[in-house]
Amino acid sequence: MRAIQTIKYGELKDSIAINEVSKPSILSEDVLIEVKAAAINPIDKSIVLGNLQSLLPLPLPSTLAYDVSGVVVEKGTSVNTFEVGDLVYSRVPQEQMGTLAEYVAVKSNAVSKKPGNLSFEEAASIPLAGLTALQTLEYSGIKENDKVLIHAGSGGVGSLAIQYAKVKGAYVYTTTSTDNVSWVKELGADRVIDYKTEDYKSIVKDADIVFDTLGQHYTSEAFEVIKLGGIVVSIAGVLDEETAKMFGVPDYNLPEELTKLIRTKEARYKYVFMHPNGAHLNEIKLLVEDERIKPIIDKIYSFADSIDAFMHLDSGRAKGKVVINLS
Ligand SMILES: NC(=O)c1ccc[n+]([C@@H]2O[C@H](COP(=O)([O-])OP(=O)(O)OC[C@H]3O[C@@H](n4cnc5c(N)ncnc54)[C@H](OP(=O)(O)O)[C@@H]3O)[C@@H](O)[C@H]2O)c1
Repeated sequence: MRAIQTIKYGELKDSIAINEVSKPSILSEDVLIEVKAAAINPIDKSIVLGNLQSLLPLPLPSTLAYDVSGVVVEKGTSVNTFEVGDLVYSRVPQEQMGTLAEYVAVKSNAVSKKPGNLSFEEAASIPLAGLTALQTLEYSGIKENDKVLIHAGSGGVGSLAIQYAKVKGAYVYTTTSTDNVSWVKELGADRVIDYKTEDYKSIVKDADIVFDTLGQHYTSEAFEVIKLGGIVVSIAGVLDEETAKMFGVPDYNLPEELTKLIRTKEARYKYVFMHPNGAHLNEIKLLVEDERIKPIIDKIYSFADSIDAFMHLDSGRAKGKVVINLS
């Protein structure tokens, strides 16, 4: 079968190729999915660039990507939650990475039926970003009337996080650039801050939660806008100590500056690393079918144009998700 693989670590255009590989075989708890659509995420690009070699070592070449929607064509002997012919979506577990291929084997507990009102492309755009939005906001303890700042509301994660925070009844601030303000507002954000013309730090005060999707100086700035006792949940900043331990990083300490900010604000800081979860995807499926969450797709590429898709993602300007069609 054909697969998009990283053949070496380095520049995207030189390091990705379409290769012929063998069709995966399944274990007893797996389903085999005929891939109809896959989506790519910043982590896929970081893998190719070699930025994650120490945290996620991979044999090369490796088939890329984690997000998939398609049809179950085979199931393992212990799988009783899916049947051949089911239309499904998934963020596949790390060890089964490789959705940019004609088939992918996936542990059934990482799979859900796909939302019935979505195309394969729309469904494939959701899993990794949707699970990140749900798991990060749930970790934060989000509840009705909380004030939440979600950075990068036009991104893959941000566009779904805004909608999930609204489902939870929160008041949502989000940041984006001028071109994206109107469609991000339509996702339900209460106050869309145009970072080109406005300073979010003078608008957001006493937030209960900051969802940091940007890292760098945005992580420390979050402590300027949260209330005393608030929480900063980050998916792009520095690791917290517990998460560092989970990744096997020895003797890790939070940067001193961050420790001081946490103490001053009597706050909490957590780096959330999303995990595959079929039950969470099923929760998202129900919200999508109730039209409380909708996917945002920037562009759909053909399989042959996958390298262009990676280059577009690498621009950092994607409006929602970048999807690859395999049907
Ligand atoms: N820890 C985890 O488990 C996890 C999971 C998923 C993602 N992540 C990480 O989270 C980050 C976001 O992921 P993503 O998939 O949402 O990325 P993405 O879709 O590629 O984000 C692109 C968006 O970011 C916006 N953006 C860029 N700079 C901005 C700024 N200064 N202020 C506001 N918006 C800005 C852009 O909007 P404009 O063009 O308007 O600037 C664009 O729409 C990435 O670093 C990714 O690696 C981590």
